[in-house]
Parts: sequence; structure tokens; C-alpha cells
Amino acid sequence: MTNNSKILVTGGAGYIGTQTNIALTNEGYETVVFDSLRYGSQQVFIPEGSELFVGNLLNINELRTVFSQHQFSAVVHFAALLEVGESMKNPEIFYQTNVVGTLNLLQVMREFDVKNIIFSSTAAVYGIPEVVPISEDSPKNPINTYGYTKLMMETMMDDYHRAYNLNSIRLRYFNACGADPSLRTGEFHEPETHLIPLILQTALQLRHSITVFGTDYETADGTCIRDYIHTLDLASAHVKAVQKLISSTQPICEAINLGTQNGLSVKEILDEAKRVTNRPITVEYGARRSGDPAVLIADVKKAKQFLNWEATHSSAAEILETAWNWHVQQVEKNK
Ligand code: UFG
Repeated sequence: MTNNSKILVTGGAGYIGTQTNIALTNEGYETVVFDSLRYGSQQVFIPEGSELFVGNLLNINELRTVFSQHQFSAVVHFAALLEVGESMKNPEIFYQTNVVGTLNLLQVMREFDVKNIIFSSTAAVYGIPEVVPISEDSPKNPINTYGYTKLMMETMMDDYHRAYNLNSIRLRYFNACGADPSLRTGEFHEPETHLIPLILQTALQLRHSITVFGTDYETADGTCIRDYIHTLDLASAHVKAVQKLISSTQPICEAINLGTQNGLSVKEILDEAKRVTNRPITVEYGARRSGDPAVLIADVKKAKQFLNWEATHSSAAEILETAWNWHVQQVEKNK
């Protein structure tokens, strides 16, 4: 199956970018991945129907080269830095990569008259919410530089819509997790700070223990609750957003939450990890991590209404099983 539309996927060699690129090519889209390969997965997977252009958003001429070689119907923009702690230690590289990189991309899209962008945004734009589930019009008060840069990138898209007719769908992910069932991509960060990979590394004895950050939250079991969303579900939402933007005759400038509206606590994730791995996992109970709200859950009404999308792969079992298979494979490969 082929589809006449060609899509640029920045950061398409990364964790969620790869899964989305697979989903786009499965739908018959031709894609070009624009990726520096500096922060992506350990192994790069480029599916049939896709090609790789190694480049950096901060080099605007590399962007011009790729736009001059292809006529794109839409851009799906993942390429960005994402580690919250790093954003507080070294904000400059976050402003450069995320904000200046996105400005370069938007400028080149304008130069080449490409009008549609789907953007990888985050629940971090909301900061600590007053009300959960969190709807898209909740106040935006990021509490870290990472969240601020993502909000700035969204704001740039608003301004480009108003002034230059850019169409955008900004997808605000809650807790991305899981792995490709065929093990073509999975979660890998260096350093790793995310709960599920840390738990699975502990089960694999790559770490001595996992520390639960806080057991005195106002939740049923005292641990934090998050809205975990499988990358397969994130990928299908991006495909729907691409289809929506390309087929629409109306201007579009929307932000949409991607989650399940069902929270899981840290303890529930640990219990599921013990069941799936069937291995001992040493757990330590520590203090709260600063900046962690007790509960973050998405209101997903808009995603259903606007994109006709809902999560179908985000049960605790499917998340942990796919993530575990991927982690086991990584260990086998590194032997
Ligand atoms: N946690 C632990 N121990 C750890 C690591 C995490 O108990 O070693 C807990 C955290 O306190 C939190 C939960 O596990 O309650 C999930 O933590 P993660 O670090 O995996 O994810 P966050 O919820 O902090 O952040 C994620 C993304 C952000 C994004 C945010 C949006 O990493 O980029 O979701 O909701 F902004």
C-alpha cells in the first residue's frame, strides 16, 4: 500500500519516533527521518518506506537540504531533549535544542511552504495541576525547564498559526512507556531516570535496587499515581493526527492530551513487574522526589472527540510484558 503523502519525522530514530515511523509506514506513508542519532535508541531501526537523513536541527542548512530534496505534506516533530533533571542543570542546551531547533524547523517549513506539524508535547506543560483528570485548558505552569521549553515550542506554533497559517496538533503525552512487540524499539535513556526501565533493570540485576520515591502521598497505597501510555498507542494517535491535518480543509491549531485516564501507582507497577518478570526485585522506600505531584491523570475526552482515538495497548500487563521482552533482548545483545 502506498500513500501519496510524504512525511518528515524529526527524531524518528528515537524511542517514540521509531514506533510512530513504523506506524506511518504501515499506513503507506513515505517518510524521511531527520535525526542527529546522538540521543536515539541504542540501535536505529528505519522501516521499509522510510529513509534516514542524519542532521541536526541547529544546522538550518541541513534542514534546507532535506526540504529541498522532498516535498512534505506534514512534519512530525519529536527531536528534542527530554531529561527533566538535566534541563535544570543545563538549561542552555535545552533552550538551544528544543526552542532554537524548533524555530529553525518552523522557519524552514515556512520557506518551503509546508503547513502541517504534529508536535511531541508533554503533560509537563501543566506543572502541578489543581484538578485531575487534567484537561487541555488547565493552567500551564511548568515546574522545570524541560516543561517550559515544550510550552514555548507550543506557543511558537500558536503564533505561526495566527500569523502564517501553520496548522498544528500538539500531542501532550502523559507517561510514555512499553516497547515494540517485535522489539524494534524500546525505552532507553542515558542516564535512565524513568520508573519502568529502572524496575526492569533491577529485575535483570543490572541495578542493586529500585527506590520508591515517597510512600506518604494522599493516594490509596501512599505512592504516586501516573497515567502510563504505551508507545503503540502514542504512535496510532500520531497517525490519526497526520491524517486529520492532511485531509482537513479547515485551519487547525489544537493541543490534545494522550493518556488513558486510568492511573497506576508506583506500587501497582512494581507488583505487575514482579508478576511479569517472575524475578526478585529489591525495593527500597525513600523520600519524595522534589517536584512530583501525587496524581497526574489525563482527561482524554478531547482525544476521543477530535482524533477518534483511545488507548488500546496500555494495560499494565501489555506495558510491562513488552518492556520486559525488550529489556531482556538488550541484555542478550550486549552479551
Ligand atoms: N519513581 C520512583 N522511583 C524511581 C523513578 C520514579 O518511585 O526511581 C516514581 C516517580 O516518583 C513518579 C513515577 O515513578 O511518581 C514515574 O516517574 P518517572 O520518572 O518515570 O516519570 P515522571 O512522571 O516523573 O515524568 C514523565 C516523563 C516526563 C513528563 C511527565 C509527564 O519522564 O518527561 O511524565 O507526566 F513530563
